[in-house]
Amino acid sequence: MSSPLVVAVDGTSGSGKSSTSRGVAERLGLRYLDTGAMFRAMTWWMLRQGVDVHDPAAVAARAGEPEIVSGTDPTAPTIAVDGTDVAVAIRQEDVNAAVSPVSAVPEVRARLLALQREVIAADGGIVVEGRDIGSVVVPDAPVKVYLSADPAARAERRTAEEGGRDVEVTRASLLARDQIDSGRATAPLTMADGAVHIDTTDHTLAEVIAQVVALVEDAGART
Ligand code: DC
Repeated sequence: MSSPLVVAVDGTSGSGKSSTSRGVAERLGLRYLDTGAMFRAMTWWMLRQGVDVHDPAAVAARAGEPEIVSGTDPTAPTIAVDGTDVAVAIRQEDVNAAVSPVSAVPEVRARLLALQREVIAADGGIVVEGRDIGSVVVPDAPVKVYLSADPAARAERRTAEEGGRDVEVTRASLLARDQIDSGRATAPLTMADGAVHIDTTDHTLAEVIAQVVALVEDAGART
């Protein structure tokens, strides 16, 4: 029997990763894993514990403690830390500002990598979105996609999603995170070998979903 399908979707914040990944998973009856939510959940927990998120040694020392559980239904993804639903809390500004430095800590990445691989290995195909899915988490994924969009489009989408924050503030926050995520030493945001690049700036969500579904069907036809 062939191994279950994994679709790796990487890209910058606001490039359309989440909506695309969920849409593709729904269309194809696959599970869905938002790895960014796991990094956000870890960050939320560090802030709650009063850990200095700009002190990598302090973050590393506590990275093994929180229990993070991700639900993989694309129509209703969930994320809990130590039994508390944090789906709303992890999208707040305090987490936005702290998540990139926390995600740069190797001990955080190693802990979440193990959790991600556990979820991926469970029953059924899955669409996994993040920054290092095609390069580090599942380098042999049969379908890898790298999504990008120009910064103005990304800031506008995020502002609409987050409900009316200042578009310039959102743009500055996105670009600051990109810089840290792309520049870190461990598993930086990068376009993986074999990834198909889709610039979503001038495409609707439905068009991007259709493109990725076509890639998956094409990969199925070739195996
Ligand atoms: O996708 P997102 O914006 O919710 O991700 C939040 C942060 O998590 C992002 O700025 C960097 C980090 N992240 C990561 O380092 N590796 C991943 N695979 C996913 C997210």
